[in-house]
Amino acid sequence: MSLNKNIKSNRKVENIDNNQSKGIAEIKRILGKHHYSEDKDAMQTYLTDWRGHYIGQAQLVVFPNNVEKISKIVKICAREKISIVPQGGNTSMCGGSVPLKHGTSILLSTSRLNKILSLDSTNYTMTVEAGCILQHIQKAALEADRYFPLSLAAEGSCMIGGNLATNAGGTNVLRYGNARDLVLGLEIVLPDGRIINELQGLRKDNTGYDLKQLFLGSEGTLGIITKAVLKLHPVPKTIKAAYCAVPNIPAALELLNRARMESGDCVETFELISRLVMELVIKHIPGARDPLDTPYEHYVLLEIISTKSNDEGLTYKFEHMLEKAMEDGLILDAALAQTEKQRQAFWALRENATESQKLEGASIKHDISIPLSSIPAFYTSAWQAILAVEPRARLLAFGHAGDGNIHFNVAEPEGGKTSDFMNKWDAINCAVHDSVKKFNGSISAEHGIGQLKRNELPRYKSDTSLDVMKMIKNTLDPHGIMNPGKVI
Ligand code: FAD
Ligand code: MLT
Ligand code: ZN
Repeated sequence: MSLNKNIKSNRKVENIDNNQSKGIAEIKRILGKHHYSEDKDAMQTYLTDWRGHYIGQAQLVVFPNNVEKISKIVKICAREKISIVPQGGNTSMCGGSVPLKHGTSILLSTSRLNKILSLDSTNYTMTVEAGCILQHIQKAALEADRYFPLSLAAEGSCMIGGNLATNAGGTNVLRYGNARDLVLGLEIVLPDGRIINELQGLRKDNTGYDLKQLFLGSEGTLGIITKAVLKLHPVPKTIKAAYCAVPNIPAALELLNRARMESGDCVETFELISRLVMELVIKHIPGARDPLDTPYEHYVLLEIISTKSNDEGLTYKFEHMLEKAMEDGLILDAALAQTEKQRQAFWALRENATESQKLEGASIKHDISIPLSSIPAFYTSAWQAILAVEPRARLLAFGHAGDGNIHFNVAEPEGGKTSDFMNKWDAINCAVHDSVKKFNGSISAEHGIGQLKRNELPRYKSDTSLDVMKMIKNTLDPHGIMNPGKVI
């Protein structure tokens, strides 16, 4: 299985020299004894990834609370060649946020950088520190009658710095874009300790290269994001939600098209959920239940929004569109949320997909994106390829189909031996990712590369693109101290 291979290929036991020990002592003095940890047990939660696939090693976990301290720490690390792993909420799906198994890094947690610094409702912006939890940011925006649309199931624990460093996607990308599209400025500590501060909150600024773009999606390999100016939107005041059973994937895509056209392009969410995914949620999550009377193979959670309160025009358009889609056989059955509680019950079926999959046992995840027009052909081709490797595999397909991103996850066969399934890791990955390549897709739509897909990247990315990525990395981080062993 490739996880072990990844770990083996990174097995370069680093030695700590005298100067590094002095550097570590200096870092401890900067922080004071309450703001670092070197206790093995206390460090464990920071060194283990969310899926429990990677357990890393570090000399120290540090908790700085401002950019000046981070800059000083990074300068020491640059001088003594001590590597640094930045960490936010540690919800990475690809082992990006934990150090390597035999590493001697320090892990820098942003959890004390947790202040919302300002909110400018006229400019529709909010300035925050990197360790703010995403849900706190959403709430603060709502309190000012503004909306921060980034939304994902991990929002109660992931932090905005991590969201930006991974260019997170989530459930609202179709309407508002990825995390990258929700940022106007960043403050970053570079790998030599210098600070870039571009926090003006401008929508237009063509004074040279747009430096922030380099750090968005760089997974902690180019610098540490310490602050961000986020772009806000008007709050959706009328939300219409439907949980629709659809006959097949092409019908789902035509439903998306109609919903966009007939709502005046107001689709906020278009999430695909397969029957098997829903069954796992119902099995593992107390209170989850099927909103429809009969089981179907595929479902779509569809939401359209208006920023007007009680927008009756939107309600009419929504119901009319659904009725027509049903007449035309694009929808087999549907439940419409009449209350916020019902809407939240639909969301519970979607948002618990990852958790219930974890509770069910081993799975091999594929976070892929495909041009919408090729999704049906890809779906069939990749599923056939998986079955050729493991005829009893269970496909857990779900996700952000509206933006072309499907989590094409494969669960171990029921009653099988987990180790037999995990031995097929490489073959199953190859089956899915080669299909992705065939249909011009991406092997990482939103989770990133981290440690998990690092060895696979050269197979799916061009040599020229990889060369340019390495040139950027070597220029900004010539000693390779930022999040080593990740991405490239
Ligand atoms: P971490 O996991 O701590 O770190 C992620 C990466 O960013 C690491 O490489 C780390 O080194 C780097 N990093 C963290 N903070 C900084 C910083 N301040 N400066 C520089 N680098 C930094 N992801 C999606 O995109 N869409 C989803 O829908 C989605 N759903 C999820 C659902 C669940 C239940 C879970 C557990 C995860 C999900 N994820 C999803 C993955 C994950 O939540 C996101 O990648 C998230 O953006 C990571 O944020 P974090 O604060 O946990 O970052
Ligand atoms: C989600 O959208 O819920 C996650 O990104 C999916 C996953 O865990 O594969
Ligand atoms: Zn996702």
